[in-house]
Amino acid sequence: VTSDLAVAYSRSAAAWADGPGRVYDALAEALVARSPVALTGRRVADVGSGRGAASRALRQVGAEPIAVDVAEGMLAADGGGIAADALALPFRDRALGGIVGAFSYNHLVDPVRGLAEARRVVAPGGAVLVSAYAADDDHPAKAAVDGAAIAAGWAPPGWIERLRRDAAPHLATVDRAAGVARRAGLPDAEVAHVEVAFPEATVEDLLAWRLGMAPLVPFLARLDAAAHAALVDDARARLGEHPPPLVRRMVVVAAAVA
Ligand SMILES: C[S@@+](CC[C@H](N)C(=O)[O-])C[C@H]1O[C@@H](n2cnc3c(N)ncnc32)[C@H](O)[C@@H]1O
Repeated sequence: VTSDLAVAYSRSAAAWADGPGRVYDALAEALVARSPVALTGRRVADVGSGRGAASRALRQVGAEPIAVDVAEGMLAADGGGIAADALALPFRDRALGGIVGAFSYNHLVDPVRGLAEARRVVAPGGAVLVSAYAADDDHPAKAAVDGAAIAAGWAPPGWIERLRRDAAPHLATVDRAAGVARRAGLPDAEVAHVEVAFPEATVEDLLAWRLGMAPLVPFLARLDAAAHAALVDDARARLGEHPPPLVRRMVVVAAAVA
C-alpha cells in the first residue's frame, strides 16, 4: 500500500499547488494554532509533509520545520526533506520539540503505533499535533468530480479504497481518535472536531481542489486535452452553478508530551 500511495502522491505534486494546496494551507494553520505549547524556536517534524502546508504554518509561528514524507516526489517538489515512514522516524528519543501530522496519520492502518512513535521522538514539554478528515467531512464537489471521472473510465485505485476502509476510520471521530491517543501514551490529548470554512471558494476552486487529489491525478494525466476538458465540463455540470459553501471538517488531536 505504502509504495503505491507514495507514487500517487509524488505524481500529484504539481496539481496539488493549484487545487488542494490552498485548502490544505488553511487547514494546517488551524492545526498548528491548536498547539497546547508555544512552538516558537522549536524543531518540529512535519510528518507526511506533502507540499509543506504544515511546514509553512510552523514557520509562521517561528518554529523550525523538518519535512518528512514517504513520497519522495512530494519532497523533491518542495526543495527537500527526509524520505521516511511515520512508523519509523529517523530521530533519536526526545530529539524534537514537536511533531505535526496534517492528514497523514489517517493513512496508517495502526495509528496507535504512529502516535507512539511520534511521542517517542518529542521531548517533554513538546507537542504532538495531528489532523484527520472527520467522518462528516463532505461536499458535493467530491461526488461531482468522482462521478465525472468514473463516467470517463476512472476507478478508484486499490490503495485509496484500502485507506478508506482500513485506516481513515480510526481517527475520523473524536471518540475514536481520543482512544487512539490514549493507547499511544498521550492520555491528556485534547481531541476536537474543528470546522474551517472557505466562503470565498468559487466553483472553479472547488473543481481544482478535487481534480488535484492524488487518487485522480495519474488518471487525468493520461487523458488527452479534449477528454480532460469534457471530464471537467461534466463535473461542473454535476456540481451546478450554486453549490453550498465549502466547510472542511477535521478531527484534531493536540497533546502536550509529559
Ligand atoms: C493528504 S497528504 C497531506 C499533505 C500535507 N501534510 C498537507 O496537509 O497538505 C498526505 C501525505 O502523507 C504522506 N504519507 C502517507 N503515509 C505516510 C507514512 N506512513 N509516513 C510518512 N508520510 C506518509 C503522503 O505521501 C502524503 O504526502
